Amino acid sequence: MASIVLKRTNQKMPLVGFGLWKVNNDTCAETVYNAIKSGYRLFDGAGDYGNEKEAGEGIKKAIDDGLVKREELFITSKLWNTFHSKEHVKELADYQLKLWGLDYFDLFLVHFPISLAYVDPAHRFPPGWTGDDGKVHLQNTPFQETWVAMESLVDAGLAKNIGVSNIQGALLLDIFRYARIEPQVLQVELHPYLTQEALLELAKTLGIAVTAYSSFGPQGWVELGMGKGATLLMEHDTITAVAKKNTKTPAQVLLRWATQQGLAVIPKSNSQTRLVENLDCVEFTLDEADIKAISSLNQNLRLNNPAEIDGRLAIFA
Ligand SMILES: NC(=O)c1ccc[n+]([C@@H]2O[C@H](COP(=O)([O-])OP(=O)(O)OC[C@H]3O[C@@H](n4cnc5c(N)ncnc54)[C@H](OP(=O)(O)O)[C@@H]3O)[C@@H](O)[C@H]2O)c1
Repeated sequence: MASIVLKRTNQKMPLVGFGLWKVNNDTCAETVYNAIKSGYRLFDGAGDYGNEKEAGEGIKKAIDDGLVKREELFITSKLWNTFHSKEHVKELADYQLKLWGLDYFDLFLVHFPISLAYVDPAHRFPPGWTGDDGKVHLQNTPFQETWVAMESLVDAGLAKNIGVSNIQGALLLDIFRYARIEPQVLQVELHPYLTQEALLELAKTLGIAVTAYSSFGPQGWVELGMGKGATLLMEHDTITAVAKKNTKTPAQVLLRWATQQGLAVIPKSNSQTRLVENLDCVEFTLDEADIKAISSLNQNLRLNNPAEIDGRLAIFA
């Protein structure tokens, strides 16, 4: 399986994984089981997705049925914003590992560089962006405090690798100034409408692997009313023309555009046919002209921007 070797641990992170956001709770266990059966080995979860228990059930069944061993899987989860202070990071990793039924994560990411007021998981989990009053409550935890607590997860054997998500250059450089254990992976929104070349260049310089999320651009956001009116990439003339030329589907072309640049991808699908289709996105080559044509669609269109929830969360300003 095509993979990226992570710098500190030499662990292989599969280039194509399965994204769990918006995978329906009632079908999640079955979807994860079938995804493993179809060849997926990486699952990208998060406390915020609210389906870790069900994803863990699918994994357990696959292991019990002898489809796969735990060590052949690469399980990613993420620390939510309300758990950034040092006393809550381990509490949450333990809590989430229990949901999954696992002893360790292969990768644990800080979901956003945003610290919000603590919400007791016994009160509400996942806690989301707002408190019981529907308002966003900030908390002044500096990122360094969170990162030091993340490092202790590696020391305790709860996470093999740690990393960050939704972080841009300035903060990334700052983390590298103090990190005892450097972030191994940066997970960011990246697709032909948001190509982020400068960030990719910096990640390369720092030796940090990049996972692109929302590879299909607006596709997964439209159902939330957050597609920003953009033409769906899968229906864009440039993408459909490249797909036709290569006798591949638009989805496969969008994923290959990323994997050919050395980026890991984590497409999500609630459909068995589509998840199989998505896994097949490393064994063909787009020519230089195709890659250029697709990259030229960039319009710095960011679909996941917390500033739209509350102006004080403008991490991409
Ligand atoms: N770190 C972060 O802050 C963050 C943020 C967003 C996402 N993520 C991660 O990235 C993963 C993927 O991103 P995403 O969920 O935004 O969306 P995505 O994978 O870019 O797109 C998913 C959408 O595309 C459809 N789809 C999937 N395969 C298709 C195919 N072959 N042909 C046509 N349509 C297809 C899906 O519908 P069906 O389900 O009906 O197939 C769904 O509507 C998430 O699940 C999550 O793990 C991380």
